[in-house]
Amino acid sequence: MQIALGCDHGGFELKQQIISYLKKEGIEFKDFGCNDVKSCDYPDYAKVVANSVVNGECKLGILICGTGIGMSIAANKVTGVRAALCGDCFSAEATRQHNNANILCLGARVTGDGHALKIVDTFIHTDFSNDERHIRRIGLIEE
Ligand code: RB5
Repeated sequence: MQIALGCDHGGFELKQQIISYLKKEGIEFKDFGCNDVKSCDYPDYAKVVANSVVNGECKLGILICGTGIGMSIAANKVTGVRAALCGDCFSAEATRQHNNANILCLGARVTGDGHALKIVDTFIHTDFSNDERHIRRIGLIEE
């Protein structure tokens, strides 16, 4: 399972922490940038991560900006993406089980680092329920 990572300047420090966590856990990832805290445009990173998930290169994606909101708006413009902004583990678990969310968005200026790492852990270790009602509802979104 490969995870696609992307951030803007607001999410750079948290992305580095997530990279350390993924390395420690032996989870493969592809880092699409940004590569420092210089001001940059979050939609550029949302697009490349979204495309990598939709084309199957990566199974899941994680996008981080200051609030997580810009990243989620931008990622959800890409057909096939179900990006979920999560600030708690309950939501991260439920959005995998119920929405089959394929991108986790985090707000680095909103969610503390320790909590964010738990949210990441929950998101990547929870599977879609495959329940008929959830499949139907996701289908209705994508019509
Ligand atoms: C950058 O200052 C900030 O606007 C960005 O990280 C994000 O929060 C946008 O939604």
